[in-house]
Amino acid sequence: MTPLTHPSLTTLDIDSLEAELRHQSPQKILERAFSLVDSIAISFSGAEDVVLIDMAHRINPEVKVFSLDTGRLHAETYRFIERVRKHYNLSIEMMYPDAAAVEALVKEKGLFSFFEDGHNECCGIRKVAPLRRKLATLDGWITGQRKDQNPSTRAGIPVIQIDHAFSTEDRPLLKFNPLANWSSADVWMYIRTYAVPYNLLHEQGFISIGCEPCTRPVLPNQHEREGRWWWEDAGKKECGLHAVNDAAASA
Ligand code: ADX
Ligand code: SF4
Repeated sequence: MTPLTHPSLTTLDIDSLEAELRHQSPQKILERAFSLVDSIAISFSGAEDVVLIDMAHRINPEVKVFSLDTGRLHAETYRFIERVRKHYNLSIEMMYPDAAAVEALVKEKGLFSFFEDGHNECCGIRKVAPLRRKLATLDGWITGQRKDQNPSTRAGIPVIQIDHAFSTEDRPLLKFNPLANWSSADVWMYIRTYAVPYNLLHEQGFISIGCEPCTRPVLPNQHEREGRWWWEDAGKKECGLHAVNDAAASA
């Protein structure tokens, strides 16, 4: 049993909730997430996790959505985020990195330092710090993570967990992964069935989509994660947004 200490969440027992929700549909998990936590938002990457927005919007048209604009996304992704905003009549909050931190990094190491000394520093500034800032305003967040996206780090992700990486001592943060048990095929079946708008990069062979310099299309039958940070070891292909996975994978 993992009891929560936040006053509004003290009655929750995460392990029982996980047992209750693990075999439920993403829609049921979303419904439960909205009923459990008031201050909650979807973290939208601008890729196929758009299915979460479609599902959530049918349950709650006022659903809150944010996206981390690293400044290095593909033009197609910016256009897609805008398309989603208009399609669902949503306000998508764009989170930006600290300008001084980006300037210092680029001044010292240039625009492509991640090819030389790894993606952690750049991701830390452009993704993780803005995420931390956003999550400090929430009691829960909803991600599009799936087990099949990364056998090394995501095979064990639960549908609900306490995000120890971003919780503070007096404020536990709930993390929902409603698509954890869906496959890429399930997601694409949903997109086609409900005519959900999608990022046009998917028509060019991209499966997993992140920042432009760190994402490439994959060949038939190549794992989608091979299109991300391909110059680094498979086990390192997490950028810090889902640091709680690294802790679980190495436990
Ligand atoms: S990443 O950590 O490797 O970049 P991935 O691209 O697999 O993550 O996406 C998994 C989930 O992380 C997405 O469904 C989304 O919830 C969240 N995410 C990833 N990138 C972003 C982003 N730029 N903005 C908001 N959420 C993101
Ligand atoms: Fe920087 Fe690449 Fe990480 Fe984007 S994915 S924040 S460009 S290292």
